[in-house]
Amino acid sequence: VRRIELFLIPGEIPESYLKDKLAVTIDVLRACTTIAYAFANGAGSAIPAEEVEEATKLLASLDRRSTLLCGERNGLKIKGFDLGNSPLEYTEDVVAGKTLIMASTNGTPAMTRASVAKVQLLCSFVNIGLVAEALSSAERGASSGADIAIVCSGRMGRMAIEDTVCGGMLVNLLEGAGLADLHDGANDAAIAARDLYLRHSESLGAMVQESSHGRYLASIGFGADLKICSRLDSVPVLPVLADGVISTCDPEEIGASRQ
Ligand code: MLT
Repeated sequence: VRRIELFLIPGEIPESYLKDKLAVTIDVLRACTTIAYAFANGAGSAIPAEEVEEATKLLASLDRRSTLLCGERNGLKIKGFDLGNSPLEYTEDVVAGKTLIMASTNGTPAMTRASVAKVQLLCSFVNIGLVAEALSSAERGASSGADIAIVCSGRMGRMAIEDTVCGGMLVNLLEGAGLADLHDGANDAAIAARDLYLRHSESLGAMVQESSHGRYLASIGFGADLKICSRLDSVPVLPVLADGVISTCDPEEIGASRQ
């Protein structure tokens, strides 16, 4: 039986636990949403960094003219960086053809944590349908039967409701597609997240607005981002992290080529 597990925060996951699993990393506010926007607007690739110093070091090894240093601390653009972490900054004229080095507080460290997985997909409300499609494709292809681990980024080591609800929605979609059996092989967090999603399924926008990070972002002037981050399936790209680099692929490719 395929296991489907959800982790409320990355710190729950034992070292190497995700090896051989299909991982889905979720950061609704805002890293995964912003990365989806960047690719939709033509970014070439993105490299997640955990620390600011790591990001600046990486920049020194790349072509400055085609690389953008991106990220936030406390939701705000880091001093000396090109871009912060608002999806609205990642317009075509700014990001097309560029390599993005991204250092966010919770999202990019979660991606690094999950990088031992067989495949890692990046998910938020804006591309959740494609993520579910890719996992169905994996089931039909080379990764058939592999366990799925949904990794919520959370906030400063704590559960974040928007990531949990998004994870629960993914569990619900996978159950609907016959990929997950919540009576057999799901962990308690996956079941709880699915129940939480059902409670908020008709009011995702309000849930995001009322979340701790949503209220914080609105208080520092990013209220518009909350609406963007709540729009279901509005950005049809599938970011995949492999060998330390994020690129995009077609859902069918997940089943066909990645072993
Ligand atoms: C994070 O990675 O912690 C978030 O993306 C923070 C943010 O809203 O910019």
